[in-house]
Amino acid sequence: MTEYADDDLEFSIVVAATEGGVIGNHGRMPWRIPSDLRRFRDITTEIGVVVMGRKTYATILQTLGHPLQDRKSIVLSRKATGRTETLAFVSDFKGACQEARRLGGRAAIIGGGEIYRLFLPHALRVHMTTVYMDVSGDTTFPTLTGQWRCAEWESAARRDVRDEFLSSYQVYERVSVQH
Ligand SMILES: NC(=O)c1ccc[n+]([C@@H]2O[C@H](COP(=O)([O-])OP(=O)(O)OC[C@H]3O[C@@H](n4cnc5c(N)ncnc54)[C@H](OP(=O)(O)O)[C@@H]3O)[C@@H](O)[C@H]2O)c1
Repeated sequence: MTEYADDDLEFSIVVAATEGGVIGNHGRMPWRIPSDLRRFRDITTEIGVVVMGRKTYATILQTLGHPLQDRKSIVLSRKATGRTETLAFVSDFKGACQEARRLGGRAAIIGGGEIYRLFLPHALRVHMTTVYMDVSGDTTFPTLTGQWRCAEWESAARRDVRDEFLSSYQVYERVSVQH
């Protein structure tokens, strides 16, 4: 049986994927697009709370040396536990919802593949960056089917000279919430 989040929770997925749905390979994103990292930072900082899987958290720690700044982190893991003022490990979807509610009810779902699949049925919005790169990968984002409308769209561009590939940006909103 699918568990549903309550109406008081507002989950927004933030993801970058190729046209074929690839989001990662061997624990990494197979592109470097600084303009999208800035967009990611702005969207998630405005929301203030990020939800991620333990593997994505490990990659962030490895890359930055610390959790994402100016945001509260909720990390899903069936094994790891612990809590600080700005980070909490939770053991399941329900625990993530409880923690998100405690932090005000809004959260950005930032991956990876397992966590996107878990939260997509409950998300109200998807911030999708499409990366125009032909690559195969071991982690994918599911295809958005019928119940979404494109509310915002920016055409493909290299927005920073250091962007390795063209990318476009779309915001999808759920047409009706499942209950
Ligand atoms: N392109 C993008 O926008 C983007 C964004 C983020 C990540 N990524 C990519 O995605 C890949 C990582 O994704 P992934 O799917 O392998 O891993 P993930 O979703 O980051 O983390 C998976 C882990 O989360 C925990 N977990 C999953 N479901 C759970 C549940 N229902 N309850 C409790 N814990 C749960 C488990 O941790 P334990 O093993 O500790 O139990 C599991 O091993 C990397 O390649 C990364 O670069 C891409």
